[in-house]
Amino acid sequence: HRHLLGITGLQNHEILYILDQAETWVALNRSGAAKHDDRLAGLTMINAFFENSTRTLLSFEIAGKRLGADVVNMHASQSSIKKGETLIDTAMTLNAMRADAIVIRHASSGAVQLISDKVDCPVLNAGDGTHEHPTQALLDALTIQRRKGEIAGLTITICGDVLHSRVARSNIICLTTLGARVRVVSPPALMPAGIEDFGVTAFHDFDAALDGSDVVMMLRLQNERMQGDFIPSPREYFHLYGLDERRLALAKPDALVMHPGPMNRGVEIASSVADLAGRSAITEQVEMGVAVRMACLDILTRKARAVEGWA
Ligand code: CP
Repeated sequence: HRHLLGITGLQNHEILYILDQAETWVALNRSGAAKHDDRLAGLTMINAFFENSTRTLLSFEIAGKRLGADVVNMHASQSSIKKGETLIDTAMTLNAMRADAIVIRHASSGAVQLISDKVDCPVLNAGDGTHEHPTQALLDALTIQRRKGEIAGLTITICGDVLHSRVARSNIICLTTLGARVRVVSPPALMPAGIEDFGVTAFHDFDAALDGSDVVMMLRLQNERMQGDFIPSPREYFHLYGLDERRLALAKPDALVMHPGPMNRGVEIASSVADLAGRSAITEQVEMGVAVRMACLDILTRKARAVEGWA
């Protein structure tokens, strides 16, 4: 694989290899003052973000810097995109600067693939429209694996705005590939048609879906992607699909609570659950994000560094 455009196309052993590599970086990141490795020294990494981000942008930047790369960030709002430059011209401009890795977030599904066809270096998808967010799924898998051991055989319930969620899509592909039983829960208007073709079980009743769940992964209501067809009131949504302590008690007693962030507290998740010590893995997910992105950057730049390939 030259790029990381999605979880689609990755095999079970390739995902497990990335998670295994990320463990090295978890150890480095927890090692104290010297959180540094110079293997990407001399390489230039560009983060081109055409959509807002806190976690993904900062963790890619930290990941690149901890590996010794020169990291530059391009924010669309301050770029010549605002003057009408096309996506392809922007991609060719970044390529002419001889970047060694380009990380892209874009509001349109498929935009990252389009750019990857135009540049000479590895491209990493940091989230494209409603399509995929592969490093999010990998960091979620690493979080689950570290807390629960093997992912195969676990029952993982993903609840919320599945229709608009690239996080849900990448997680469904990742977790089913790793052998988990995946349940998805959402209001009828926010459930993609044909979702069961992905090997998941679809529910509209959150209470029923929680029974026997090892992991409960909540999704953000993506109001910015709604076409005006379904904007539930926050109170109504929380009543039907919000995770509170009563609902969490319906899952297994040690069920893990996850959310990719940013959270709408009181809309899809109660603060008492989001901050529940020992059960909520939300800040751990953020920590794993740095390690997983270090692993992906290391693996994808091996060819440029003339280091042996991967998986
Ligand atoms: N989870 C996630 O992608 O968060 P950001 O939008 O803050 O990057």
